[in-house]
Amino acid sequence: MPEEIVTHSAEETIHWGTEFSKRLKAPLLVLLTGDLGTGKTTLAKGIVSGLGAAKEDDVTSPTFTLVHVYGKSPKVYHADLYRIESFHDFETLGMEDMFATPSVAILEWSERFPLQSPWPQVQVRLEHLGGDARRITVL
Ligand SMILES: Nc1ncnc2c1ncn2[C@@H]1O[C@H](COP(=O)(O)OP(=O)(O)OP(=O)(O)O)[C@@H](O)[C@H]1O
Ligand SMILES: [Mg+2]
Repeated sequence: MPEEIVTHSAEETIHWGTEFSKRLKAPLLVLLTGDLGTGKTTLAKGIVSGLGAAKEDDVTSPTFTLVHVYGKSPKVYHADLYRIESFHDFETLGMEDMFATPSVAILEWSERFPLQSPWPQVQVRLEHLGGDARRITVL
């Protein structure tokens, strides 16, 4: 059975993310799927801060920059593949060194660009339930 919870605010999603991060061990890909505005970046704030890699407020959307890197041990990559159209684009992300050191990589819109990786993966799906309610499912 996939694990499922419903949150009712951004704060609640961040809090769940910090709890969830306690189970994450590098190397790992955290694949976030879900429509625009479901809370992928919000959840990433919780995960990155829970891993001790950055403060919640310092975690911002990598929408235009495509990838942010936080912390040292583990290094946490946070990328948004929404605008990635090709492997060439992907190579310009600066993620080529990523697999050299065990890190945690959080990927928004991961379904847009399936990544071949030797690392284990966990997929987290976010869905709108109306208003501020979101369903979060760990797959
Ligand atoms: N329960 C909730 N969980 C997460 N965010 C919520 C919740 N309720 C309201 N919000 C709001 O929804 C928005 C979610 O935006 P966020 O940038 O995290 O989404 P996203 O999935 O990363 O979008 P995008 O696909 O554009 O990157 C924020 O403005 C946040 O405050
Ligand atoms: Mg986002």
